[in-house]
Amino acid sequence: MIIPVGLGKDSYDIVIERGALGKAAEIFDLDRKVMIVTDSQVPEKYYLNLAAGCKVSVAGIFQAGEASKTPQNFLNICKKMMREGFSRKDCVVAVGGGVAGDMAGFAAACYMRGIDFYNVPTTLLSQVDSSVGGKTAVDLDGVKNIIGAFHQPRGVIIDPDVLETLSPRQFACGTAEIIKIAACMDVELFGRIEREGIAGNPRIEEIIAAAVTLKARVVEEDEKEKGLRRVLNFGHTLGHGIEAVTGLYHGECVSLGMLPMCRPAVRERIKKILEREGLPVRFSEAAPEPEKVIEAAMHDKKAEGGSIVTVRLDDIGSFKFEAASEEQLMKDYLEVFG
Ligand SMILES: NC(=O)c1ccc[n+]([C@@H]2O[C@H](COP(=O)([O-])OP(=O)(O)OC[C@H]3O[C@@H](n4cnc5c(N)ncnc54)[C@H](O)[C@@H]3O)[C@@H](O)[C@H]2O)c1
Ligand SMILES: [Zn+2]
Repeated sequence: MIIPVGLGKDSYDIVIERGALGKAAEIFDLDRKVMIVTDSQVPEKYYLNLAAGCKVSVAGIFQAGEASKTPQNFLNICKKMMREGFSRKDCVVAVGGGVAGDMAGFAAACYMRGIDFYNVPTTLLSQVDSSVGGKTAVDLDGVKNIIGAFHQPRGVIIDPDVLETLSPRQFACGTAEIIKIAACMDVELFGRIEREGIAGNPRIEEIIAAAVTLKARVVEEDEKEKGLRRVLNFGHTLGHGIEAVTGLYHGECVSLGMLPMCRPAVRERIKKILEREGLPVRFSEAAPEPEKVIEAAMHDKKAEGGSIVTVRLDDIGSFKFEAASEEQLMKDYLEVFG
C-alpha cells in the first residue's frame, strides 16, 4: 500500500507493507553514503537489514530513550557524517522510534543546510504519528522538541512486521494515537476499532494505513501547524500535564488526557477501546495532585495569555477547538479524575 503525502516539491510516499524493510534499496535511493541512525534497544536485525542495501553505510547508535534526544547526540551524528566525508548528495535514514526519527531528521535538516532523509519507523507510535509531517527536533535541558525544524522525509517505509518485537506497553502507546485521530476525524475507522481492536488484529496494516492517511491529510492542509493540525493535540493538553508529573508513557498520558475533553457518551465509547488496548483510563496508583497536572499543562508552549486551546469532542468524528482557562481545565479534569 502506498500513501502519497502531497506537499508540492516536498511530496513523498509512505510505503506500508509487511516485509518492506527488506526491500528498502528498491524503495529508497541508497546508492550513496547512508548514515543509519538507530538506538541501543531497536533489534539489530532491522539495522543490518537496511545496511545490507546501502552502497556505503555508517552507523549512528545512541542509548535508547527520550533522555538521548539531545543537542549532543544530534552533533554526534553530524560529526560522524563530517568525518566520513558526507556530501550534500548523501543521506540519513532513521531506523527506530520517534526519538531516532526526530533526531536523525533534524541532523538531516541541518547538515550542509539540508540533505535527504528517509524514515523507517519501528514503533507503532512513530509509524502512525511521527513518520508523517516532517517535524524534527531535539530536547534542550529537559524541554521537549524546543530546537527543531520542518524537514520532510524523501520516503517512509512502514513495515508492520517490525512491531512483533515491540513490548505490549509500547505497542499500546501507539494505539492511543490511532484512537485519538480516529475519534476526531473518522467514524468508520473508529467503528472498525470498536469491532476488531488493534492489538492482535491480523489486518493491522489497514488500520495503520487509515491512521496515516488521516494524518497525511491534516499535514497536507496545514503543514506548519497554523490551524487544522492542532487537532492532533486532542488529549495532549492534559496529557502533557500528566506526563510532566507522572512516570507514565506518552501514549498512556494521551489516553487519560482525552477523557475529560469528551462529552460523557463519547467518553464511554473511547474508554472502552482504550481499556481493551491496555491503556489507562484512571489512575491506578497514587494519582498526581490535580494542581500540579494543570500547572504543567498550562506551561505547555501552546498556552497563550492565560488560556489554552483545547480540542473537544461532542461526537465521534467531529471536533471543535475551544479556548479554556486554567479554571475550566481544572473543572474538566476533576469531572473525570476528581
Ligand atoms: N515528529 C513528530 O511529529 C512526532 C510526533 C509524535 C512523537 N514524536 C516524538 O517521538 C518520540 C517518541 O517516540 P517513540 O514512542 O517511538 O519512542 P522511542 O523512539 O523512544 O521508542 C520506544 C522504545 O522502543 C524501542 N523500539 C523501537 N522499535 C522497536 C522494535 N521494533 N522492537 C523492539 N523495540 C523497539 C526503542 O529502542 C525504545 O526503547 C518522542 O520524542 C516524541 O517527541 C514526534
Ligand atoms: Zn502524541
